Amino acid sequence: MSINKTAKIPANEFKNEQLTQVPLSNIALGYVDSVDSDHAKRLAKKWQLNYLGDVASASKHPELEFILQMNQHVLELCKLDEPKLGAIKVDFVEGAVAHRRKFGGGRGQDIAKAVGLKHGFTPHVLDATAGLGRDAFVLASLGCQLTLMERMPVVAALLDDGIERAKLNVEVGDIAQNMQLIHASSIESMDLANQPDVVYLDPMFPHREKSAAVKKEMRIFQSLVGEDLDADGLLEPALALAKYRVVVKRPSYAPPLANKKPSMSINMKKNRFDVYVNKAIPKG
Ligand SMILES: C[S@@+](CC[C@H](N)C(=O)[O-])C[C@H]1O[C@@H](n2cnc3c(N)ncnc32)[C@H](O)[C@@H]1O
Repeated sequence: MSINKTAKIPANEFKNEQLTQVPLSNIALGYVDSVDSDHAKRLAKKWQLNYLGDVASASKHPELEFILQMNQHVLELCKLDEPKLGAIKVDFVEGAVAHRRKFGGGRGQDIAKAVGLKHGFTPHVLDATAGLGRDAFVLASLGCQLTLMERMPVVAALLDDGIERAKLNVEVGDIAQNMQLIHASSIESMDLANQPDVVYLDPMFPHREKSAAVKKEMRIFQSLVGEDLDADGLLEPALALAKYRVVVKRPSYAPPLANKKPSMSINMKKNRFDVYVNKAIPKG
């Protein structure tokens, strides 16, 4: 069974609980401990996901492939047939993302160069394929204002939960305040973002590595999201919207998005950033 991710998802800025979408029948949301039951119910309603109640009852629902679970006030995603993979959550406070914020090289990082960050230019970036928000958080922690767009409700729910928890944290609260999530498909609704200077794109691309080599977390994410087969359709609206530039993250072996030659590329070990310049960045 696979998730219907191409179902039309109307633009929704999170206040709208009327969002209609095709029900996701192979995923349900529940709680691990009953202290989280109200929170889990609210989230199931907000994201229009099936409500499971106690996740221990998942075994009675063979149709379920994934569960979203509230576990000690944190939303996590588990793949039921591969429990050894553990759970995915969005955590901007601890772990890899926090480590990168502290020791990742600041404005010298390739992603900062790609978006054109420099003294006197700290852009408003639309991350139109937000995923778990890691790249967006790196840019936000460098001072950029971030609009994040994500079309899959399950991914958007995880991301929203991570941003909301980060807002409550003393160290990263200010950064998270600068991250606004919009649950929508950016191919159709990119212009919901308010005049971004830069549009950043990182659609899923078929992975070459054997699945065992892909990190556990990535395996759950990939099996949920699949490939973004319509990704070429992102470039045109991005070029129309970005004031200064569009940045596309690609695996090194992948052709450019929509086969359109970029103005320049920044090459890294496994990936590259293709940069499409609309207008020169103002001199600092
Ligand atoms: C490779 S992940 C992005 C990872 C992200 N850069 C990060 O650092 O966590 C791609 C994400 O883009 C989302 N996506 C793809 N096409 C989209 C579209 N047209 N509109 C909104 N989200 C989209 C997918 O659902 C997936 O979550």
